[in-house]
Amino acid sequence: MTPLCPSPKLRALQNPNACWDNGAGGCGANSGDTVAAIDQAVIDGVDVLNFSISGTSTNYLDSVEVAFLFAARAGVFVATSAGNSGPTASTVAHISPWLASVAAGTHDRSGTATVILGNGAKYNGASLTPGVGPAPVRIFALSDIHVDYSENMAWIQGLSERDYSRDVLLLAGDICHDIGKLEAALKCLREKFAEVFFLNGNHDLWLLETDSSDSRQKFHRLLDLCRGLGVRTEPAKLDDGHGGLWIVPLFAWYDKPEETQNSLFLPKAGPGDEMLDSWGDEHFVRWPAGGTPSAYFLESNVTHLHRVYDAPVISFSHFLPRTDLMFPRQPGAGPQPTVWPLRAGFNFSRVAGTWALEKQIRKLGSRVHAYGHQHRNRWVTIDGIHYVSHCLGYPHERKSGRIGYFEAGPRLIWEHGRPAVPIDV
Ligand SMILES: [Fe+2]
Ligand SMILES: [Fe+2]
Repeated sequence: MTPLCPSPKLRALQNPNACWDNGAGGCGANSGDTVAAIDQAVIDGVDVLNFSISGTSTNYLDSVEVAFLFAARAGVFVATSAGNSGPTASTVAHISPWLASVAAGTHDRSGTATVILGNGAKYNGASLTPGVGPAPVRIFALSDIHVDYSENMAWIQGLSERDYSRDVLLLAGDICHDIGKLEAALKCLREKFAEVFFLNGNHDLWLLETDSSDSRQKFHRLLDLCRGLGVRTEPAKLDDGHGGLWIVPLFAWYDKPEETQNSLFLPKAGPGDEMLDSWGDEHFVRWPAGGTPSAYFLESNVTHLHRVYDAPVISFSHFLPRTDLMFPRQPGAGPQPTVWPLRAGFNFSRVAGTWALEKQIRKLGSRVHAYGHQHRNRWVTIDGIHYVSHCLGYPHERKSGRIGYFEAGPRLIWEHGRPAVPIDV
């Protein structure tokens, strides 16, 4: 680029023949010298000419205008000054259509705006546009990360530092029985996501490597831990850029068939239905006397059910809220099993969850409910509610494919003010 007269000093450096100091703080130019300078610039192969000198406002055949025509024909972009000396308002110099004539103006309005960054820092500056933002927030679900497996801990540590920095994670339990590893996992995820909501699974309340006297005491210790880490365990309204939405954690435990009618239990087709001895909770969980753990946790949700929610609700739990979620659901596949279909092994339906959760979800009017526990990933829509399970599970389950669909990170369940599009059913 060859400026012909960007300023008197530059003129002296780059083209002493084109302009001269007019003694009044400006410059003047002889037309012959200017035409010669334009031609020379074209010969020199410049791409853009910036001509900060006024000129004719009536004559296309002015010698400088014609020199610019030839420059434009040679492929040179020519920007010229529209002038600021009148004689009347809106008088424009360099009216030739092959030129980009540029003017500046002033007015007595002022525009200011404040930019608020993700870390809360505020910067004031000039702006004539209305404020926008915050940037849309996405909601992701994940559960059963079982970070006592070092491979699983490495998996969460390997999640992007950048991709989820404005997003929300619903972490639906079974992080680890070891409270030190559980804390490390929460800290790690808290650094990657703008917000993390957490509730416990059954493994988190195992009384292994802990000095908690019983599982209820350990539960309250986990709530304290979350408070200290800035991890949410209570309902909260979020600004997602689309009118907001509510996240509601639903604490729970499973109902065994001998405890209440709300159990998700299905009788087993074969013998050996008990086999509870192989279920770790039978050995590592201990409750204070009185009532069932399920009743205790469900009761803690009740105040949330009677609240007014002025935006869509997304709820999540660790345990399953419905019997039919235990099985793959194919469209038009007919009725769900009424017996536990596997003749061998443990009858998971005995400890899967509780129908009482489903009643709470319906009372809330949830649009999406995320859950975990079974290590079988699904996205199923039943009577208007999207039920989504996205467990990381055990390494051997992922390798065998038993866990079902699994993507490279937490599962997107909400964006643009509505449920994300399910990839499978
Ligand atoms: Fe689990
Ligand atoms: Fe679980």
